[in-house]
Amino acid sequence: MVSVVFPAAGAGRRMRADRNKVFLELAEKPILVHTLLKFSDCPSISELIVVVAAGEETYIEELLRGIHGLKPYRVATGGSERQYSIANGLELVDPAAEVILVHDAARPLVSPETIENVIKTARCTGAAIAAVPEKYTVKIVDENRIVKDTIPRETLWEVQTPQGFRRDILYRAYQKAKEDGFLGTDDASLVERMGVDVKVVESDYRNVKITTPEDLLLAEALLGDRTLSHAKGVAETALNFAAAKLKVKLHRT
Ligand code: CTP
Ligand code: MG
Repeated sequence: MVSVVFPAAGAGRRMRADRNKVFLELAEKPILVHTLLKFSDCPSISELIVVVAAGEETYIEELLRGIHGLKPYRVATGGSERQYSIANGLELVDPAAEVILVHDAARPLVSPETIENVIKTARCTGAAIAAVPEKYTVKIVDENRIVKDTIPRETLWEVQTPQGFRRDILYRAYQKAKEDGFLGTDDASLVERMGVDVKVVESDYRNVKITTPEDLLLAEALLGDRTLSHAKGVAETALNFAAAKLKVKLHRT
């Protein structure tokens, strides 16, 4: 069994919107709903744990009640940091889950292939993360803005979610981070410090984390593109079918 924890309890400060960015709409649906539906379409996933900010639980319960096609879900209350939100979510995960994924609610454009590849690799190796090869040149800069080093680009990967782990590994990593007072910027960093190898699964550049208003524009364009090409595909199939039928009819007459 595979469970997914979705941290959605941030404030979305960099988005500068009037509410938590995961409730902003893209193609007439809140970002969070796009994300949950994407994982609900994955046959190997059994449950969704949505972690929301304190005070937003009732709102989210009501919102999700009206959505068709969601896998069974539970709602947890988040904490002051992403890591604390996920720790709270982990408490609600079904004990039968062998693999647990963590996925940012703010990444609605993740592909089904990436989700499946992370699950498969996590099952096999214990720890797997979605990532893309770095596109830009990255430098280390000191406090006086003097460049100290240029990191060879071929060694750099930009990390995304989902990040997937075998259950025991993830729980031990979270327990150890708590004991040591360690705060990481992603889940894999908690696992890495236990000496466990984390395998990188190549994802794609569409899987953006919606963070600033520009990302919202980009996501809208990417989503529109996908909807359009899907609609085009459906229309083409229907036309081909009609043409074939007409041919048969003409042949008979
Ligand atoms: N998140 C969370 N709990 C927190 C902080 C963040 O569950 N205390 C979630 C966010 O809702 C988001 C994901 O973690 O889905 C990634 O975090 P980020 O993109 O930084 O979102 P925010 O923290 O909401 O945005 P900002 O940092 O701009 O305030
Ligand atoms: Mg944040």
